[in-house]
Amino acid sequence: MSDIEVIKDKYLGEISAATDGDALETIRVAALGKKGEISLLLKTLGKMTPEERQTEGPKINGARQAVADAIAARKEAMESDVLNARLATEKLDMTLPPPSAPKGSIHPVSQVMDELAEIFADLGFSVATGPEIEDDWHNFTALNIPETHPARAMHDTFYFPQTDDQGMPKLLRTHTSPVQIRTMMDVAKQTDGEGEPIYIIAPGRTYRSDSDATHTPMFHQVEGLVIDKNIHMGHLKWTLETFVRAFFERDDIELRLRPSYFPFTEPSAEVDVGFSVEKGRRIIGGDPRGDNGGWMEILGSGMVHPNVIRNCGLDPDVWQGFAFGCGIDRLAMLKYGMDDLRAFFDGDLRWTEHYGFDALDVPTLSGGVGA
Ligand code: PHE
Repeated sequence: MSDIEVIKDKYLGEISAATDGDALETIRVAALGKKGEISLLLKTLGKMTPEERQTEGPKINGARQAVADAIAARKEAMESDVLNARLATEKLDMTLPPPSAPKGSIHPVSQVMDELAEIFADLGFSVATGPEIEDDWHNFTALNIPETHPARAMHDTFYFPQTDDQGMPKLLRTHTSPVQIRTMMDVAKQTDGEGEPIYIIAPGRTYRSDSDATHTPMFHQVEGLVIDKNIHMGHLKWTLETFVRAFFERDDIELRLRPSYFPFTEPSAEVDVGFSVEKGRRIIGGDPRGDNGGWMEILGSGMVHPNVIRNCGLDPDVWQGFAFGCGIDRLAMLKYGMDDLRAFFDGDLRWTEHYGFDALDVPTLSGGVGA
């Protein structure tokens, strides 16, 4: 056997005995590297006679190729050995529970908005929305609050520095009443001033420059509006009673209407709900005249002022109605027992996890109105 055959067999033997990639690499360098044994032999070809080169050339090149092929083959075999070993030892247990994914929850404000929509849908109301950036006219003037009216000072309004194209002051709406204005105006327009019955609630974000444990600069309000023929305060009281009883899920809730003043309603009433103490806890419902019982204000309401109806392009001699408004955040606090409003908007996930609702659990009301 020629030298080259011996050298080739030596490397082929080493290759088949190699057990890992490092060992293979060492062999490759020793044989085929720049100063490898076979590489050096290839260099001797240049010094040979043409005859010698003819016989030696193919042998040395053949050896180089054989060693290179053997290394590649061994490498591939090693990789599949590693894979086979992993397949043999690692098992996929299909019965294991999957890792738990972080789960979101429904914010109490969203939950209460859904509950309100659900209750009022049962009473025939639809949900209306409008812009949060309003103009002075829709937020105040149309609601019978003229420019110089002291009631404007009751709302700590956020005004924008610029007016709109017509010189109208722009602001962040201080209540959702402008949605009522927009709804009535749309109806007046669509019916050429004829008018038609309106039953809406307007839930949404509202803004006032105010901040303490029970006030945040942004808060949520729901207002209701009914416009129809022959509507009177009895309808208002029944609607609010039915709503409050469905919302707090108790039939023994009493309502008390106290005369009040709002520029957009006449007469106006503030609405209190009766509370009592059960097992040491204050709850909405029960006997407000009993020990530790009492009244808590939750709503503003009244019969829509004829000026407001007229401002929207409808005839107040044909159409009357009532309106009411209350804080959604406050409703949520009373129903679900949170005591600091600011925590609602801190975005602390521990809070939402504690007070939030499972998306798959809604609706949570035990039944609709009249259930
Ligand atoms: N818009 C009033 C407020 O925000 C609430 C209200 C609405 C009162 C409708 C009466 C009638 O203070």
